[in-house]
Amino acid sequence: MCGIFAYSGEPTNASQLILKGLKNLEYRGYDSWGIAVKKGNSIYLEKHVGKISNAQIKKVVSKVGIGHTRWATHGGITIKNAHPHLDCTQKIAVVHNGIVENFEEIKKRLIKQKHRFVSETDTEVIAHMIEDKIRSGKSIENATYLTFKELRGLNAIIVFYPEKNTFLAIKNSSPLIIGKGKRGFFIASDITAIIEHVNQVYYLKDNELVVIKDKDAYLLEVKKHKKIKIKFTKPQISVDDVGLGKYPNYMIKEINEQPKVIFNIAKNYKQNIKKIANKIRKSYGTYFIGCGTAYFAGLSGTYLFSKIAKRHVNSAVGSEFVYLIDFIKKESLVLALSQSGETIDIISSIKKVKEKGAYVTAITNVAGSTLYRMADDKLLLNAGPEKCVLATKSFTAKIAVLYLIAHTLNGSYDKAVENLIKVTKEIKKIIKNKKIKKIAQKIVNKRHIYILGRGVSYPTALESALKIKEVSYIHAEGFPAGELKHGVIALINKGTPVIVYNPTDETYDDTLSSAHEVKSRGAYVIGIGSKPNKIYDEFIHVDDCKNANIIPNVVIAQLLGYYLAIEKGLDPDKPRNLAKSVTVK
Ligand code: AGP
Ligand code: GLU
Repeated sequence: MCGIFAYSGEPTNASQLILKGLKNLEYRGYDSWGIAVKKGNSIYLEKHVGKISNAQIKKVVSKVGIGHTRWATHGGITIKNAHPHLDCTQKIAVVHNGIVENFEEIKKRLIKQKHRFVSETDTEVIAHMIEDKIRSGKSIENATYLTFKELRGLNAIIVFYPEKNTFLAIKNSSPLIIGKGKRGFFIASDITAIIEHVNQVYYLKDNELVVIKDKDAYLLEVKKHKKIKIKFTKPQISVDDVGLGKYPNYMIKEINEQPKVIFNIAKNYKQNIKKIANKIRKSYGTYFIGCGTAYFAGLSGTYLFSKIAKRHVNSAVGSEFVYLIDFIKKESLVLALSQSGETIDIISSIKKVKEKGAYVTAITNVAGSTLYRMADDKLLLNAGPEKCVLATKSFTAKIAVLYLIAHTLNGSYDKAVENLIKVTKEIKKIIKNKKIKKIAQKIVNKRHIYILGRGVSYPTALESALKIKEVSYIHAEGFPAGELKHGVIALINKGTPVIVYNPTDETYDDTLSSAHEVKSRGAYVIGIGSKPNKIYDEFIHVDDCKNANIIPNVVIAQLLGYYLAIEKGLDPDKPRNLAKSVTVK
């Protein structure tokens, strides 16, 4: 849930270099941040609370240093709790992603041994544990490895030991990517932070210890004290994939990229899709799992599979799936949906699924991610880096994939491709539609927004509500339109905005009745579909894209959320309290 960055190489303005790296990682966690670089023979430490985007830092020329952008789990958002954390001798600095589940017992033990703690974090124990081991004669390599083995939970750490010009990294969950370039070696939680500096990369595997010392980098088999050469490969993204280009922020950039992403899937995925469809045909049962937006993609898939492929698939939230796993057999198929491929609730579930011998297919946007590596089969969305904390293009890409699989199962792949091409044109029209911004201006001061849809439009309503909530902080809730009268209608009064997804499918008449029901209670009704009706106070036209209507419909909510955030002066890329990769439970 945090961003880690480290550098070792030519002497340079290391503090700036690390700060820049952290800016690229800020989407992963942005409540506080800090750096530690070697200055003379000691550690120069600088920590701050708050956003890093416009931050400045003192220039410190150095050959080596580390940095961290935090998403607090243990201890408030304070300078003291920001990483890096030091030991008592101030010779060891540690940055950490994850939760040390047994930190309380370790801390008690260390306090008895007279270690002085300055933070409330779980992380700080790591620095003191290493200090202890070094004091008892262990090398920094052994001390780091043995300490890591004592930590319970899913963690990734970098240990900085300037005395030996060294830093070491080890992990058992979240990603760490080592990069090699002209200037030296880099490590980061995401390849996008180092891509401008490196031309070779290596995705660190769980429990591998990497040692970076001056211009040398190797994996160390600690027990045999054997150095292993790192097998670097060429990165799969380029610098051009990473920047903002002509856009003011990533959210609007990524919304605009959707036609291109969907076009690519429609044109180039036939073989991959066929393989997954065959696997579904043969499996004993298929389960879609995902979290947040990815869960809503899975839920949409359940409707698409029922309607198009006449097949039952189950969908579950990643964090709940571990409690539903008893019925998984080795003949089952689990399709894990995750943009980042790092969401811990998915990874934990998949670990359990694999123990039961079931087959796992990953649908992810990040090659080399943890999920990607764990899965038996993988399909990459190729949507390009998604940096805005809100998932936009990864959602519509997943829908395009699920839609094509469903059509493959009923033998109508080509028809589906044709329809997806129509969808790409529709998205372009929606992006240009000025009405969405005007509606945002009208409803920006409302406290609640309700969103209704039936059938396949129901998960669209849920996803739309999530988008609006996350980015604008306005309470939004999606409902199956039919559920309205079972309770929610009590909340509707004069002027309450109610968005009604009403495509011209089998849900049309019943959803229109729901629109009438809220209108009679004074709601401000925003209809979305291909058929206008006088009941709507506002109407946003979308050409009928059949079962792929989910995609253009959700783009409207993405834009509405975006304009609401802009109207409120909020940063759409980094909403409060959220992080892009949720790598803690
Ligand atoms: C949605 O906009 C996101 N903030 C969030 O719900 C996200 O979809 C979820 O955390 C899952 O992420 P993943 O796709 O990377 O696994
Ligand atoms: N648990 C650590 C803390 O709260 C690390 C959190 C993170 O991954 O950013 O500081």
